[in-house]
Amino acid sequence: MGFGIPMISLQQLTVTYPGASRPALLPTSLSFQAGELVVLLGASGAGKSTLLRSINMLTKPTAGKLKVNGRVIKSERSLREHRRDSAMIFQQHQLLLQQSALHNVLLGRLSYYSSLRSLLPMSVADKELALHCLERVGLLDSALERVDRLSGGQQQRVGIARALAQQPKVILADEPVASLDPVTSQQVLDLLHTLCKEDGITAIVSLHQLALAKSFAERIVALSHGEVVFDGPLSELSDSQVVSIYSQTHYSALPL
Ligand SMILES: Nc1ncnc2c1ncn2[C@@H]1O[C@H](COP(=O)(O)OP(=O)(O)OP(=O)(O)O)[C@@H](O)[C@H]1O
Ligand SMILES: [Mg+2]
Repeated sequence: MGFGIPMISLQQLTVTYPGASRPALLPTSLSFQAGELVVLLGASGAGKSTLLRSINMLTKPTAGKLKVNGRVIKSERSLREHRRDSAMIFQQHQLLLQQSALHNVLLGRLSYYSSLRSLLPMSVADKELALHCLERVGLLDSALERVDRLSGGQQQRVGIARALAQQPKVILADEPVASLDPVTSQQVLDLLHTLCKEDGITAIVSLHQLALAKSFAERIVALSHGEVVFDGPLSELSDSQVVSIYSQTHYSALPL
């Protein structure tokens, strides 16, 4: 890692929401190498979601460039391809709760089809892939279970299986464990870590808790007020930097 053209490169990428007096993401230049696992840290409102969502342009950058494998993403087609290669995992997993785990995981395949084709039943190959993804997250036995009958941790694992079914090159996860208890959070992150390593998937994951960040990634990108204030290996992140990253938070609420 660290050589050649980065997989994803942000060049002065900026997001100003309509009507806002200052950018939620100040001009930001960052590069991510293939296979890297990165954690985004920052207080509430620091811009973590804005940065993550600008990486696949769910939030449209107002200035700057996004390059993937050295190519600027500007045409509809290049954006569609980039989005197909980037799976998202959300805090509230965004599953169809009344559908089965399998049905939800199959939705990860939809970006491979035209909207017309997606009205037709999924192929056997897609179903086999979806079942394999459920197996990898330990939920093969629950494939036909309705998602609302699963625990929070299991639901998030369905979210991970759906992301895997997309066969992504990048996973963008926005606080994927924020609604889980500490033990389950650790398990879900360990699983995500293992799967990304196995498949060589790049992962950019926003987290609130530094303790969880420590076990997930070696590289930390910290944001404060829309600005990158730290980018480096965890070992270089000092206690005083941690305090300043969370400066908007009351000291006793520090998630250490
Ligand atoms: N859709 C939006 N429209 C206008 N302003 C927004 C929008 N989304 C976020 N913001 C603002 O942009 C700034 C950054 O928000 P963002 O959601 O990226 O922070 P965050 O670090 O993800 O916070 P949290 O930890 O609470 O999820 C905040 O000031 C927020 O109020
Ligand atoms: Mg957020």
